[in-house]
Amino acid sequence: MIVLGIESSCDETAAAVVVDGKTVLSSEVATQIEIHRPYGGVVPELASRQHIESVAPVVRSALDRAGLSADGVDAVAVTQGPGLVGALLVGFCFAKAWAFARGVPWVGVNHLEGHVNSLFLTENPPSFPFVALLVSGGHTSLYQVTGPVAMTLIGQTRDDAAGEAFDKVAKMLGLGYPGGVVIDRLGQGGNPDAIAFPRSYLDKERFDFSFSGLKTAVSRYLQTHPEPDAAHVSDIVAGFQEAVVDVLSHKLIHAARTCRCDQVAVVGGVAANSRLRERVTAAAAGQGLSVHIPPISLCGDNAAMIAAAGYHHLSAGRCADLGADVFSRDRTGVAGVGFT
Ligand code: KG4
Ligand code: ZN
Repeated sequence: MIVLGIESSCDETAAAVVVDGKTVLSSEVATQIEIHRPYGGVVPELASRQHIESVAPVVRSALDRAGLSADGVDAVAVTQGPGLVGALLVGFCFAKAWAFARGVPWVGVNHLEGHVNSLFLTENPPSFPFVALLVSGGHTSLYQVTGPVAMTLIGQTRDDAAGEAFDKVAKMLGLGYPGGVVIDRLGQGGNPDAIAFPRSYLDKERFDFSFSGLKTAVSRYLQTHPEPDAAHVSDIVAGFQEAVVDVLSHKLIHAARTCRCDQVAVVGGVAANSRLRERVTAAAAGQGLSVHIPPISLCGDNAAMIAAAGYHHLSAGRCADLGADVFSRDRTGVAGVGFT
C-alpha cells in the first residue's frame, strides 16, 4: 500500500510517500525555523500561515521525488494531534480534501504514534514488546509498545518536556532557537561534571519526569554567575544536559527491567542528542538490552513516520470520515481511550 503522509503539527510542513509502512520513497520537510527565530520560539499564527503556503508545494515535491503522480497513491495519512490546532488544521483539511477529490481512503494519526513508527523505517527495527522513550519539544513519555500502533503509557513529564527544557535553557544563555541542537554542540566541548545541577528522579522506582526544577537551578546559577565566558557556557550546558540525560537513561532502563522487555528505543526530536544516544547505548549494553534509535533525519518531525503509522491503521480497516476533527492534547496509550 502506497501512503502519502502529511505532517503540520508544529513548525515543520512535511510530506512523504511510504510503501507498506516500511520503505520510504520520499520524505520532504519544509522547516519554519527562520520564521520563528526572531521570536525565540514558535508563534502559532505564523506557523499556521506558513503551513498554508508550504503544504501544496511540499506534497507536490514528495510525489515528484517518489516518481509518482497523484494516481499512484493508495491512501493518505495525516497528523490529527497533538499539536497547535491552527497548524494541525492546515495539513488535516488539505489531506481530507485531497483524499476526497481522489476518492482514496484517509486516516488521522496521533503524532506520538508517528514518532514511535519512525523506528520501523530503519534497517534495525525493534520487535515487540519494547519500551520506548519519546522525547520531544512537547512530550517526555515512556511507553510499553506491543504493536505498531498499540502502546501503553507508563510515565510522563509532570511539567516541562525535555526538549522544552533544552530550548528554555538555551534562551536563558542567549544561544538562539531552537536550543537543543546548540546545547548538544556546545556541550561536547564542556565538562559535564564541572557544575552539579540537580537530578530530578521524583520517585526512582516510578516513571514520571520533572524538568522545571532543573531549569530553575540553571536560572539561579546564572543569577550568581552573570555573563559567563564561552568555556563557562560550555560547562553550564554540558552540566545541564548531563542532568537531563542521567534521568532519561535511568528511567528508560529501569522501565525495561520492570516491564521485562529486552529492547529499548528512543524517539522524538531530542533523540537526536549525541550525549543521550551515547549514554542510552552504553547503559543498555551494560544491562544486555538491545537499543534502537532512529537516524537523526527521522528523529525530528517528518511525514514518513506519519505515513508508517497510518499504514497500520488503514491495514486494520480504520479510516476517517469528512467530519473528523483535530485534537490539541495527547490521548496516546491512556487506558480506555482509543484513537480516532
Ligand atoms: O520531535 P520534535 O521535532 O518536535 C516535537 O514534536 O516537539 O522535537 C523538537 C525538540 C526541540 O525542543 C529541539 O530543541 C529538540 O527537539 N532537539 C534537540 C536536539 N535536536 C532537536 N534536543 C537536544 N539535542 C539535540 N541534538
Ligand atoms: Zn514531534
